[in-house]
Amino acid sequence: MTSRIKGFYTLPLAERKKIAAERLGVSVDELERAFESGGLSIDRAEHAIENVIGLYALPFALGLNFRINGRDRLIPMVVEEPSVVAAASNAARIVREGGGFEAEVDNGLMIAQVELREVQDFDRAREAIEAERESLFALANASIPNIIRRGGGIRDLEIRDLGEGIVVVHLLVDTLDAMGANIVNTMAEAVSHDLARIAGGKVGLRILSNLADRKLVRVRARIPVDALAIKGYTGAEVRDAIALASRLAERDPYRAVTHNKGIMNGVDAVILATGNDFRAVEAGAHGYAARDGAYRPLATFRVDEDGALVGALEMPMAVGIVGGMIRIHEAARLALELSEVGSAKDLAMLAGAAGLASNLAALRALATVGIQKGHMGLHARQVAIAAGARGEEVEAVALAIHQRASITLDDAREALSALRTQR
Ligand code: MEV
Repeated sequence: MTSRIKGFYTLPLAERKKIAAERLGVSVDELERAFESGGLSIDRAEHAIENVIGLYALPFALGLNFRINGRDRLIPMVVEEPSVVAAASNAARIVREGGGFEAEVDNGLMIAQVELREVQDFDRAREAIEAERESLFALANASIPNIIRRGGGIRDLEIRDLGEGIVVVHLLVDTLDAMGANIVNTMAEAVSHDLARIAGGKVGLRILSNLADRKLVRVRARIPVDALAIKGYTGAEVRDAIALASRLAERDPYRAVTHNKGIMNGVDAVILATGNDFRAVEAGAHGYAARDGAYRPLATFRVDEDGALVGALEMPMAVGIVGGMIRIHEAARLALELSEVGSAKDLAMLAGAAGLASNLAALRALATVGIQKGHMGLHARQVAIAAGARGEEVEAVALAIHQRASITLDDAREALSALRTQR
């Protein structure tokens, strides 16, 4: 099913809901019921966290035009910032001209850390732990029988010497389609006392690491130069300016943080829409960006030998499609269905593609006309729609009010009525 739905943003809300309901194979009534209160009932919310006094809503939108690994995908996005969804959709339209995004996820293992303190002899401790590897694996796996039954479990173990008697043991765990925080925390607690005994130390902290560098997603986009052209700029000019913008982010942490913020605009929107832990993904992203001591961009752009622009993103993506909020949040469940997400790895690829698209859109604007023009253009379109403009009227009214110092609903209504009188 195509992810290109022309003029989607100009359609009235009721029409957009109809299209989403059709995609889901449900009635509009069912869709509306599911999204009532933003997908979470107050009764459920009350039991989700403590001291609840209400619900807090954000807009739920669809990122369009995405093709990932040869397949069209709708991207569920929850975000409060105007332009993010439009910009990502626009970038995805450009990327599809070069065939779309290519994405992959590596083994997808979560890390649980067990800290051991007062270890006298690291080499001896390491040898002893290695010698007990099998029994430690069995003990770890026994603590998560449900995951073992489905084919997950511990895959490897790493032993790190941090000095001053501190040894950290990493349990590398396949948590299948769960994000896995609870699973690996359970495992870490289950093996910690045996680990301490074997290593001749004391138990310290036992918790996952959010630096999920064994759950990396890689997304690549190759964009033909002509697809990059915008009014007043040739494709080659835009391409070269984007490559220079990438170089700045690669050299300057002040710029790299903002560059990465542009990536997280897309990533977080997908993470939120699908009921995942955005703090975990954020923490992992920035930790990974700083892994070699300097803070670096999570995506870079280069010009290849054929003159095309190539964007490449690599970042940790600890997400799940079962457990946690997904169990109780109707909108998150529908988000996964709308985008036909089949696994946690699949969701990681969607979020990564949304991140690279958001990054590309921001750099294309920054490298040419600047970011404010697009923001104001979109704002003008939103006001035009709010004033009642439909179809082709939206662009015409937006254009009429765009250049004014402040864009008001009254101006838009005036421009719309002038347009209709002219016709
Ligand atoms: C705004 O939300 C994101 C940008 O600042 C990203 C960037 O500068 O690359 C536009």
